[in-house]
Amino acid sequence: MDFELDETQRLVRDTARDYATKTLAPLARKIEAEECVPPEVLRALGGLGLLAVNVPEALGGAEAGVVAYSVAMSEIAKACSSTAVTMAVTNMVNEVIATFGNDAQKQRYCPWLASGETLGAFALSEADAGSDPGAMRTTARRDGDDWIVDGGKQWITSGAWAGVFVLWARTGEPGTKGISCFLVDAGTPGLRIGHHEDKMGIRGSNTVALEFDEMRLPGSALFGELGQGFRIAMMALDGGRVGIASQSLGIGEGALSDALRYAKERQAFGKPIAEFQAIQWMIADSRTELDAARLLTLRAAAMKQQRVPFTKEASMAKLFASEAAWRVCNRAVQVHGGYGYTRDFDVERRFRDVRVTQIYEGTSEIQRVVIARLVLKD
Ligand code: CAA
Repeated sequence: MDFELDETQRLVRDTARDYATKTLAPLARKIEAEECVPPEVLRALGGLGLLAVNVPEALGGAEAGVVAYSVAMSEIAKACSSTAVTMAVTNMVNEVIATFGNDAQKQRYCPWLASGETLGAFALSEADAGSDPGAMRTTARRDGDDWIVDGGKQWITSGAWAGVFVLWARTGEPGTKGISCFLVDAGTPGLRIGHHEDKMGIRGSNTVALEFDEMRLPGSALFGELGQGFRIAMMALDGGRVGIASQSLGIGEGALSDALRYAKERQAFGKPIAEFQAIQWMIADSRTELDAARLLTLRAAAMKQQRVPFTKEASMAKLFASEAAWRVCNRAVQVHGGYGYTRDFDVERRFRDVRVTQIYEGTSEIQRVVIARLVLKD
């Protein structure tokens, strides 16, 4: 069994690590305070190939594979979780277009998304259909060759910044079979950016509602086959869950390094607190859980790369990594004592940022549903 990264994967990881430590980490507080990932950061990520890591070179991507994407995502998340989720969703949108788009759609959107000049948004969830997207109410009805879309979406990452939306809408019968997918340009008449969410964490990322009022789309906006939208969403989410597992891992790694640094410096009862068993046990548990999360995440990434079914493994990685990273961040706050509860230390931000990894890209409860269904089927 080979646990080593290959040369390309190491190169991508080191590139991401270098940018994350030298440039992004010092900006993380500003990104949170200003609630914005600056355009120069997005362009830099694009220039380094990090917005299209698993997209073919012919479409402007790095074509470095899923494992490389996973390790790069963890490095970026260690520095700034808001930038990481922005990067995650654009990679997911870019990959889904590269996989399911026709030639015109791929040529039009993939290189643009790869460049960092714009972002992608994944418009699936609705106010009353988050865990159960099969219950969505947004509709798209035919009008000659065009489509007319009415309804709304909720919790859309990068929604106010995106140049292109992958949008799901009901085109037929109730349930998962009556759903189709569309590519929508920002600024399309009838599309309105709605409420901006005031979030607990990842405050530098943008999360908005979208409203559609008689939004007219050309026939060419249909993405994939009519009625195949739900399947496309599920396949995209399988990959997206590997991304969020990797993000969780990065946030946890950041919190553990903060805790280690602090535990070696901070003195109590005449010695560094790292010499107390109470602290050592927290460090041991955190290191063990992060290593376990890494193995699950890399297994899911490797399976996706080998094009074997990986739905269950992606859900297991996302479930475990997000919950483990939350425990690691919680312990890191505890190691810092009162200081960990203040904005002066990064662990406070990481603790707020990590919480959402158990919610978005499918809640922990949904991951358990997916895993249990597949285990019972096996
Ligand atoms: N790959 C391919 N096809 C799949 C699939 C997969 N992983 N999962 C399901 N399908 C197919 C099924 O085979 C089935 O097809 P047939 O009808 O032809 O047999 C069809 O899709 C319907 O499947 P289910 O009956 O399993 O559907 P369901 O309604 O019971 O839902 C679910 C299953 C797993 C609970 C799903 O609804 C789900 O994943 N919910 C969570 C949604 C989610 O993760 N949202 C996140 C939003 S995006 C986000 O958060 C991004 C961000 O900002 C960071």
